[in-house]
Amino acid sequence: MEYRSLGNTGLKVSVAGLGCGGNSRLGLGRGASFDDCVAVVRTAVDLGVNFLDTAEAYGTEEIVGAAVRSYDRDRLVISTKAIFKADADTSETVTRRVEAALKRLGLDYVDVFHFHAVHPNAYEYHRDVLAPALARLKEQGKVRHIGITETGPRDPEQKMLARAIQEDPWEVAMLAYSLMNQGARRAIFPVSQRRGVGTLLMFVVRNIFSNASYRRDVFAKLVEQGQLDASILSDGDPLGFLVADGVAASITDAAYRYARHEQGVDVVLFGTGNKAHVQENVDSILRSPLPPPVIERLHALFGRLTGVGLDLPGPVKTS
Ligand SMILES: NC(=O)c1ccc[n+]([C@@H]2O[C@H](COP(=O)([O-])OP(=O)(O)OC[C@H]3O[C@@H](n4cnc5c(N)ncnc54)[C@H](OP(=O)(O)O)[C@@H]3O)[C@@H](O)[C@H]2O)c1
Repeated sequence: MEYRSLGNTGLKVSVAGLGCGGNSRLGLGRGASFDDCVAVVRTAVDLGVNFLDTAEAYGTEEIVGAAVRSYDRDRLVISTKAIFKADADTSETVTRRVEAALKRLGLDYVDVFHFHAVHPNAYEYHRDVLAPALARLKEQGKVRHIGITETGPRDPEQKMLARAIQEDPWEVAMLAYSLMNQGARRAIFPVSQRRGVGTLLMFVVRNIFSNASYRRDVFAKLVEQGQLDASILSDGDPLGFLVADGVAASITDAAYRYARHEQGVDVVLFGTGNKAHVQENVDSILRSPLPPPVIERLHALFGRLTGVGLDLPGPVKTS
């Protein structure tokens, strides 16, 4: 495994991080047992993954807590989050919900606590009214660092995060980035690097790079909307060049490698309920970058797109 600093937090994190949400939710999403989900987490940790991201909304905090009990806590970096409503939640509810998360995890502290999926309209309320409660929990040692995550599907232009990365108290940010959703390359990473904000990537694969028939539908729609030229559909799979001549082992492999080697990326989160995929994804994230001409082609083809592949949780429909 390779490790790097998470922004200016002082935390050393594995470049591959296990996402315990998404559609898979460690396997809970398809009805796997508690023990099978624990085994997915342990497979990742045994491969050197030390960054684990969960959330109240995923229903996986107890699983993560059970899985990590037999490891050295100091070597693990555990992140969780909760969704709060602007104008309804208060600093008291923040404190209560953080303490409830710690109880579910069976931990004395979390390394990062994030406000989850913050909409641009709710940003100032989170910063001014709710974040001071996280600062107090930080003083008490229950939260080590303060994070914020965007809502990919409802804020595809990343308006909330473009503000947050310029301001206190955010030390870590979770954002959507992929080979067909490259906006952060221009708008987020230059600033997050300059300010020392740690970055965690989500939506790197999701449905679009793991489900070929869904991907075909997405491409057809982008052509229909005039966002891509129709010629892209003329020669079989529009992403075929990623797996031609051994460039990448699969589209999923290419998607994780593309994201992992972008300047300013600290952790690539991968979500899965499949132990074999844990191994495959760790291998992908540790592989060399895609060749420069392939990256240039991805930038030229898809660099102008916004919000592609940012599906809400749940099954996607294919034609
Ligand atoms: N707003 C937020 O805060 C927010 C929103 C979204 C995500 N997140 C975080 O980001 C994490 C990652 O996002 P994500 O769950 O969408 O993960 P992802 O890594 O982008 O995509 C995961 C999807 O790809 C499949 N997959 C994974 N590895 C594969 C492989 N090697 N081959 C084929 N299919 C593969 C998974 O199904 P299998 O189970 O079959 O592997 C799952 O359907 C989440 O778990 C969560 O921690 C946060």
